[in-house]
Amino acid sequence: MAEEILLIGQTLCFDGDPFHDGIETARHDARGGVLVRDGIIAEIGTADDLRQAHPAAEVVDYGEGLILPGFIDAHLHYPQTAIIASWGKRLIDWLNTYTFPEEIAFSDPAHAREIAARFFDISLANGTTTVASYCTIHSESVEAFFEEAQKRGLRAVGGKTCMDRNAPDALRDTAQSAYDDSRALLERWHGVDRLCYAITPRFAPTSTREQLEALGALWGEHPECPMQTHLSEQTDEVAWVSGLFPEARDYLDTYERAGLLGPGGLYGHAIHLSDRERGALKEHEGALVHCPTSNTFIGSGLFDMDGLTREGQIVGLATDTGGGSSFSMLRTMAAAYEVAQLRGRALHPAELLWLATAGSARALRMNDRIGRLAPGYEADLVVLDLGSTPAIAQRSSRASDVWEAVFPTIMMGDDRAVRDVRIMGRSVEQGFAV
Ligand code: GUN
Ligand code: ZN
Repeated sequence: MAEEILLIGQTLCFDGDPFHDGIETARHDARGGVLVRDGIIAEIGTADDLRQAHPAAEVVDYGEGLILPGFIDAHLHYPQTAIIASWGKRLIDWLNTYTFPEEIAFSDPAHAREIAARFFDISLANGTTTVASYCTIHSESVEAFFEEAQKRGLRAVGGKTCMDRNAPDALRDTAQSAYDDSRALLERWHGVDRLCYAITPRFAPTSTREQLEALGALWGEHPECPMQTHLSEQTDEVAWVSGLFPEARDYLDTYERAGLLGPGGLYGHAIHLSDRERGALKEHEGALVHCPTSNTFIGSGLFDMDGLTREGQIVGLATDTGGGSSFSMLRTMAAAYEVAQLRGRALHPAELLWLATAGSARALRMNDRIGRLAPGYEADLVVLDLGSTPAIAQRSSRASDVWEAVFPTIMMGDDRAVRDVRIMGRSVEQGFAV
């Protein structure tokens, strides 16, 4: 007999993309049910109908808890877990002062394992069930990332960060070793259990043209893998890139001419873009990853969510830990809301929740298996308490619809709002199934 679990609570399902199809594409059920069979969502419906149809299913009733797909964090750096919230620097100084010294320590497998385990525990406690992470230049850091994800049964994306210039000696590889090591790691981990390898040139300033081309060649051999990098985060970084690559038309072109622009490309930040870059990103189906807490924390700028979604770009949402100031996708949605407000657009809670789930899943090209409450999807779920603190509870108790009930949690919530997290249907409280 297949194992069936019926989860009962409020449910919110998205049939489409609310940026494109309007918020009517969301369906709310105040007493809904999610039937999970062998780790996969089998049916969505009302609690009563599903109970009747599946009398033998084990029932978990969350009352007014809101059942959502687990959050998907489309860009972060797990090795920066222990240096999150480091004071007072902008991007390049922040990298040199805090980030690079910390990343050097990941040549030690024990350190890498300790931080990877800590990172996943914090992330899961925040309701994040899938991440796309940079590792460090060391293969050991990639091994630790995938081993800890695998232990927890997670769908996870990671890759060795490649750098062959403008970084400390201890953090530099070469064009050839970046290719060889990335390929060996890809062959070892991509497609194992729920794991996915991402080819990872850190960003144009820390790679020579030769290295970008070597990684472009590897991506050409493995187009099924994502490729993650950074793009146009700060204006002085953009100016630096144009000095380093005088032959390039713009920042994106440093990737484009190396074969690093295409479907499955994940471009973190993407704030200071020219019209040509926007056109090329759209044409080649690159995904832009919005990192709002990082963009305010490091002082990078205001992502053009309204314009970019209107022109049909693929957009995901991410914490950018530890340039970002929180591990929480709720805090990240709040920052996305505030940044959009500063640009004159109020994002609807439906849009924010969609970005943190189906939107990020689409950016990762995993939107056929995670990020939605729908039959056939993997049952990676988060259950939110919409009254997790007295301040939130007193506001949500006045709500006249689900959006007003959930918005205080989006704006003021954190890990205290996470009532349960399920990986392939199984609560993390019960331990991991694998
Ligand atoms: N650009 C290149 N590397 C990094 C990084 O680690 N964090 C952020 N925010 N931007 C980067
Ligand atoms: Zn980053």
